[in-house]
Amino acid sequence: MGNILISGVNLIKEYGTDFKTRALNEVTIDIREGEFTSLIGASGCGKSTLLNMMGALDRPTEGQLFFNDRDFSVMSEAELAGFRNRSIGFIFQFHHLLPEFTVLENVLIPTWIESGTVNLKKEKRAIELLETVGLKDKIRNPSGNLSGGQQQRVSVARALINDPYIVLADEPTGNLDSESTEQVYELLRKINAELGMAFLIVTHDRHIAEKSDRIIEMKDGRIISDYHSGDRTPEAIWNQIAPVNCKYRHREGEGGCGEHRVCMPGTGRTKC
Ligand SMILES: Nc1ncnc2c1ncn2[C@@H]1O[C@H](COP(=O)(O)OP(=O)(O)OP(=O)(O)O)[C@@H](O)[C@H]1O
Ligand SMILES: [Mg+2]
Repeated sequence: MGNILISGVNLIKEYGTDFKTRALNEVTIDIREGEFTSLIGASGCGKSTLLNMMGALDRPTEGQLFFNDRDFSVMSEAELAGFRNRSIGFIFQFHHLLPEFTVLENVLIPTWIESGTVNLKKEKRAIELLETVGLKDKIRNPSGNLSGGQQQRVSVARALINDPYIVLADEPTGNLDSESTEQVYELLRKINAELGMAFLIVTHDRHIAEKSDRIIEMKDGRIISDYHSGDRTPEAIWNQIAPVNCKYRHREGEGGCGEHRVCMPGTGRTKC
């Protein structure tokens, strides 16, 4: 097992003043170097809130966060912004590319933000990354001309340009068709294996969860289960956290029955 990279201790996050919503309720979590982790749970359970805390996009109401033993709470907003740009890659459901800029320029944006300039070394790295994500022939195209799946692959390359320790992804395939979804999963796993950075991925998709080293499940602002693949198959893990039986037995490629949040084709098992 790798060393601990990000550590959250008794994290509480409350939104609102008069009427408070507790989005995180005493969450303690460690993410290790190189680990490929899925974060799952029903809508509103606090997944994005936790991801935003781990990425220093927001501060907890109570509790502590450490990155390689560095305490986030003593860092100023400017220090946090610099740290985020250098050390963490972000991928969101909507890719947030600048459509009129080329694919290559979009990948280089974090570099411009960090140093106000782009050197040849970084440009070479951006081209290598675009090759890794299968888009080398598109580097001079405006990103707005690409398909949804291709644009998301550009955002994967952009997340990697500063060689982050960890990539945080919030439903990275939530807006894609099933073929592009599969391509993006394969890509994330390949990057994890080849480049060794950790991934924490919020997903509603069983296939991503099954490809993970670890599955963390949340409910009502708390972590209710934390499974490492280790000696069990990913499917066994999924079955354990998907205890509700669905009367329909869907086949691979069919949609769910609409009654359940996620239906597992062929098994009748559901995750509600
Ligand atoms: N900026 C905010 N202001 C007030 N309440 C918020 C805010 N952001 C999130 N919440 C509340 O915090 C809770 C957790 O929200 P969060 O977005 O983390 O859930 P989620 O698990 O990511 O859900 P989804 O799967 O729908 O994206 C919800 O009750 C939500 O309404
Ligand atoms: Mg969310």
